Amino acid sequence: MCGIMGYVGGDRASGIILNGLTKQEYRGYDSAGIALCCKEGIKSAKIVGRVSGLVKLVENMPQECLEARSGIGHTRWATHGGVTVTNAHPHESADKMVTLVHNGIIENSKEIKADLKAKGIDFTTETDTEAACQLLAYLYDGDALAAMTGLVRSLTGAFALVIMFRDRPDEIWCARKGSPLVTANSGGASYCASDPTALLEFTHDLFFLDEEEMAELKPEGCRFFGFDGARKEKESIFLNWDSIMADKGHYEHFMRKEIEEQPDVLRLTIDTHTVLTSVSMERTLDLPDGLMRRVGHVQFVACGTSHYATLVAQNIMESLDDEVDVRAEVASEYRYRNVRGGDDTLAVFVSQSGETADTLAAARLARSKGTHCIAITNVRGSTIDREVKHTLLSMAGPEIGVAATKTFTGQISLLALLVMQLLKDRGSLSASDEARIIGGMRMLPAHVHSILEREGEIRSLAEKYSASKGFFFIGRRECVPLTMEAALKLKEIAYLPSEAYAAGEMKHGPIAMLDENLTVFAFVPDNDLREKTLSNVEECRARNAPIILLATEGDSKAKDHANDVLYIPRTERELFPFAGVAALQLFAYHVARTLKRDIDMPRNLAKSVTVE
Ligand code: G6P
Repeated sequence: MCGIMGYVGGDRASGIILNGLTKQEYRGYDSAGIALCCKEGIKSAKIVGRVSGLVKLVENMPQECLEARSGIGHTRWATHGGVTVTNAHPHESADKMVTLVHNGIIENSKEIKADLKAKGIDFTTETDTEAACQLLAYLYDGDALAAMTGLVRSLTGAFALVIMFRDRPDEIWCARKGSPLVTANSGGASYCASDPTALLEFTHDLFFLDEEEMAELKPEGCRFFGFDGARKEKESIFLNWDSIMADKGHYEHFMRKEIEEQPDVLRLTIDTHTVLTSVSMERTLDLPDGLMRRVGHVQFVACGTSHYATLVAQNIMESLDDEVDVRAEVASEYRYRNVRGGDDTLAVFVSQSGETADTLAAARLARSKGTHCIAITNVRGSTIDREVKHTLLSMAGPEIGVAATKTFTGQISLLALLVMQLLKDRGSLSASDEARIIGGMRMLPAHVHSILEREGEIRSLAEKYSASKGFFFIGRRECVPLTMEAALKLKEIAYLPSEAYAAGEMKHGPIAMLDENLTVFAFVPDNDLREKTLSNVEECRARNAPIILLATEGDSKAKDHANDVLYIPRTERELFPFAGVAALQLFAYHVARTLKRDIDMPRNLAKSVTVE
């Protein structure tokens, strides 16, 4: 989604803003722009394409612009209006008084435009954003706070707005409703950005704007206001992330680096929430006493990869307690369905970014029904962290590659432990299961490490199959969520058609598609379902589909059923996805690399989806 960076202080704004935009490139975008407060007024540069192109444009701006001490920048992920330089942000009002950038969607932009056109104001872009820009200029008569208050009250939809007024070169104004925005002040300068990672090199003390909040940024500090214009006191949040963690280091891609960080994520999560072979999350979670004895229904709600993580959790929960009604739901559907809610229901919302619009809306709906809510997010201070009382933080550190990897691992390990904690509180987790699974989890960092050591083998396999027309990932029970995540990774970064199927479902339709050009990648852990899955594999083989198996180390007979076999270490049954996912991430990574895809910034995708 769009990325925003703003700066007002004593240094050259252009470099700071371009650097901040570069750090947020991973959010996904198709055009970029910057506006600088120069002596002769506000000057902007915009481009279709990457920030690297914008850097070159800025180099050719007049010296007085390069010396500017304040400015705003933007990377646009088009929603309203094509990908053109005119539609790229920043936008400027017809009277040149207001320049602004926007993330989100202004739903009543048509009405605002019609109204202003009737008043004689001309519009030059196809964007919804320009409506906000022209309206603000129309409302502004020298009182910025009053104009801002009038603007935010007139807009419907979602927005993070960052604004400069021509006659206020030492100020930047911000407003947030529905789209994230974070501000900071440090060393005589103020900053704002969509994403905290852009600010970490300046300070770790961040002010996350709340819903319906505005900010005025000046070199000496930030002031905050409600949408009614009333002053608000705000506490900063210390974000314990290292800016180095958001650095690619010697790796070719962030995704590759992040895949390799997974053993550390597992270790940290497990060490934080367990003592020997017991889960110990009660203090961090701080749920009302006896809650889990009252609750009969558990919902896991999320989008994308986070949804697949919750399917892993659903599987573990039902394998340990068949009396709890547990469902993993897609947030974009949950929010519009008549789902169960209330005192007998617990809903767990999972969002890496903590900003996904559908997940936030689903959580708000659940809270309005009196459902008990827990959030799991990777970003302290994110909207979901602030809105949901009981939050667990996954410990993956900043993830920059658009395709989620280490955050998935962080989520499933945290979810597995949460499931055990909840069932323990309910009295339905046996000590032997607890010790067995936690013991198994402690082995996972080493298992994932051993998979990473086999990267050469996985790369060869990926190169061999990268010409395939498409892939079917099949498996049963605990492997089904893994088939989905594996197929999603290939779609996201290799742009290859890839389907995920419960193995038993293949013959109910999809098998009709198979021939020698479609590869079937089947997951056959050495467990009670091995033979059943292998029968499904044989059905695919009989239709000439090339077969790859993901099998348990030591299962030498697996190769009798396949063209190629990738072995992963033996784990507890529930934990197969935890070990297997690293192999599948590497497979997708190397297929995409062979096909020369833009791995960290795949086309059309955004890391954080803050619109519906
Ligand atoms: C986007 C990202 C995915 C992510 C999904 C949910 O589609 O590209 O990687 O899984 O959003 O994001 P969240 O931040 O809520 O986990």
